[in-house]
Amino acid sequence: MSDVAISYTVHVFAMAGSLRKDSFNKKLLRAAIELVPPGMMIHQFDGLADIPPYDADIDLDPRPEPVRALKQMLAACDGLLIVTPEYNYGIPGVLKNAIDWASRPPSTSPLGGKVALLMGASTGMVGTARAQQQLRQNFVFTKTTVLPTPEILVAKAPEKFDSDGRLIDEMAKQLIAERLKALGEWIYKLRAR
Ligand code: FNR
Repeated sequence: MSDVAISYTVHVFAMAGSLRKDSFNKKLLRAAIELVPPGMMIHQFDGLADIPPYDADIDLDPRPEPVRALKQMLAACDGLLIVTPEYNYGIPGVLKNAIDWASRPPSTSPLGGKVALLMGASTGMVGTARAQQQLRQNFVFTKTTVLPTPEILVAKAPEKFDSDGRLIDEMAKQLIAERLKALGEWIYKLRAR
């Protein structure tokens, strides 16, 4: 996609799909926040651990407060950055659970019409490729447009972060910066339509 002039601030909702304190995916999200391009603000959602298991019997007004916080923050943003681990070749349950809450009801879901950038870090060799593929599938139903390749796959994560938790893989940093810029351009172009 060619460069476009972005004339307003783009607000991006961001969430790491791991609850672990020392999570590589939280560190990867921190790297993205540090690489944010001009004209974009990344808003990190930290309430994943508080979201109850999805239950249609409580998916009624007033919804649980952590769910309202999630949906309000999503609604206030123009795009999404999801930083996911891979669990058993798929998406961690806590992340899927949050997406399930945010997806209901489909007609007013704050995921609808949004553009998403995916990335992830794993200790394995394929850097969350299979989890990201699952997320793409989920986002078909929610009418969320996911940026195409190149994917941001941080494999062998223990080798890619220093002892302070900073991403030290220069190629990954460059790719993240490029893809964040592309996310801003896609959001801008889709909003202009
Ligand atoms: C894993 N891990 C893993 N890694 C991978 O590349 N593919 C996989 O399918 C799985 N499956 C899996 C299942 C479960 C239940 C756990 C706990 C872990 C390893 C995973 O990449 C590693 O634990 C990461 O460190 C998890 O991400 P965070 O918590 O560091 O962000």
